[in-house]
Amino acid sequence: MTQPHPFSEPSSSSRFIEPCILVIFGATGDLTAKKLLPALYNLAREGQLPSQFACVGFARRDKTHEQFREEMKQAITTFSRVKPLDEALWTHFQENLYYHKAEFHEEEGYRSLQTFLSGLDAKLGTKGNRVFYLSTQPSFFPLVCENMHKASLVYDTEKVQDKWSRIIIEKPFGHDLTSAQSLQKELLRFLHEKQIYRIDHYLGKETVQNLLVFRFANSLFESVWNHRYIDQVQMTVAEDIGIGTRGAFWEEAGMLRDIVQNHMMQLLSLVAMEPPVNLSANAIHDEKVKVLEAIRPFTSSDLETAVVKGQYGKGFVGGQPVVGYREEKNVSPTSLVETYVAMRLFIDNWRWSGVPFYLRSGKRLPKKATEIAVIFKEPPGVLFQQLNQRNEPNVLSIRIQPDEGMGLKINCKVPGPSSPIQPVKMNFRYGSYFGMSPPEAYERLIQDCILGDNTLFARDDEVFNSWKLLTPLINYWQSVKPQDFPNYASGTWGPKAADEMLAFDNRKWRLI
Ligand SMILES: NC(=O)c1ccc[n+]([C@@H]2O[C@H](COP(=O)([O-])OP(=O)(O)OC[C@H]3O[C@@H](n4cnc5c(N)ncnc54)[C@H](OP(=O)(O)O)[C@@H]3O)[C@@H](O)[C@H]2O)c1
Repeated sequence: MTQPHPFSEPSSSSRFIEPCILVIFGATGDLTAKKLLPALYNLAREGQLPSQFACVGFARRDKTHEQFREEMKQAITTFSRVKPLDEALWTHFQENLYYHKAEFHEEEGYRSLQTFLSGLDAKLGTKGNRVFYLSTQPSFFPLVCENMHKASLVYDTEKVQDKWSRIIIEKPFGHDLTSAQSLQKELLRFLHEKQIYRIDHYLGKETVQNLLVFRFANSLFESVWNHRYIDQVQMTVAEDIGIGTRGAFWEEAGMLRDIVQNHMMQLLSLVAMEPPVNLSANAIHDEKVKVLEAIRPFTSSDLETAVVKGQYGKGFVGGQPVVGYREEKNVSPTSLVETYVAMRLFIDNWRWSGVPFYLRSGKRLPKKATEIAVIFKEPPGVLFQQLNQRNEPNVLSIRIQPDEGMGLKINCKVPGPSSPIQPVKMNFRYGSYFGMSPPEAYERLIQDCILGDNTLFARDDEVFNSWKLLTPLINYWQSVKPQDFPNYASGTWGPKAADEMLAFDNRKWRLI
């Protein structure tokens, strides 16, 4: 048995974890080493994997099972959140870790995989249940699914009842609305929607899961969670690092596609959604979709005035000199790809009428921080303001990473006769309060997929609505090229135009 997550379906409260085999396509890649195997190891450490379980890595490099195990051992030793490696646990864990060498386009490789998995079923009692993790370039998704279908690796859930197969798909899901829709059409040739788990690792973070608990398990905040009390919401996803070795990927993606379209839109929908009618996955997805549908589309003037994009130039981060984006490896010296995006959005519904949501995300900013700040309206200026005392607005800051937790800024009287007012902060830290750092998002998400719970994965209409909002912007950016790139120095908080956008609204970005 495993612990239910805070908003799991009542019907799945027992969360009995069934035997299964997890196959990772792209098992020699970066994501497998840094995230997936460390997540599996930690699930095993906490007794959260099925007792009958195997993991099979699929990639094209020549490798024996033993070599793969040794590489994964190194990866876990380096990247696991819990150190050092527990040798006894590892010895047990690696017994059911295998490698299967094949090319994505070779049907024979899938047939031999099917034979290999059937052998494992007979040996381990994994009962034909499968999770296929597609940790590959997105262009391979349809091909891999088609070949899995041909080799009967995925089952028609309408017809097969005694075993199940699910696939986890890494982002990005498409690169605009049309491509996302055609990818979905391709996948539906071989799978049902309920078999497709679109991963957005932000949704697996404890602090993101806590958003709904915080909102709907506390009457205090829910009653002021609307346009009458909230002045604005600011969401920041800041990275101090550059694009590292991912130049080729970044040249095709950019910040809008890599962060805004998925992570930020998911955060936005959780902050702004109405209470779901129950805690079923569909009820939660339905409410999130309503938010995304209610976001006001960009007008042609918004494309100029409500969105700012930027690209980092050289500068200093943490006191060290760093190169500009155009000097990074595998990046064109004349690249026009954005490494920073800021935008102002409105949600045209009863709750959020007139409240701006300011989103910003950038690389090579002064620090790494993901935060949602709910900034309340100032109190009426009839008392303390008359005494020349300025009340700062109350701010609820929800820190997604690092230093997961929440802060609430309130105004307080400084002790003494002159009564100056000073903002103070109440702070809650996950790490210190619960005495543990939250598990990695991939742990929660892999476990949920094995359990058949897709609450924390993105549904197809969430992805489409997000692309529907942002595709006009992508098209506009293709036609109007920025003249001023690079337009912010590494180690600063982004282009001046982003500050000006808020100054125009008589607001400013929060200091983080
Ligand atoms: N890395 C991250 O931190 C990260 C974060 C979020 C999302 N993602 C997404 O996760 C996915 C995987 O990313 P990654 O960084 O792990 O990619 P990667 O390091 O480039 O790894 C790609 C994997 O695919 C395999 N592969 C490629 N072509 C193949 C073929 N024709 N036949 C068989 N195997 C083939 C490679 O095997 P060989 O080594 O044998 O060539 C390798 O195992 C991508 O969709 C990416 O956008 C990655």
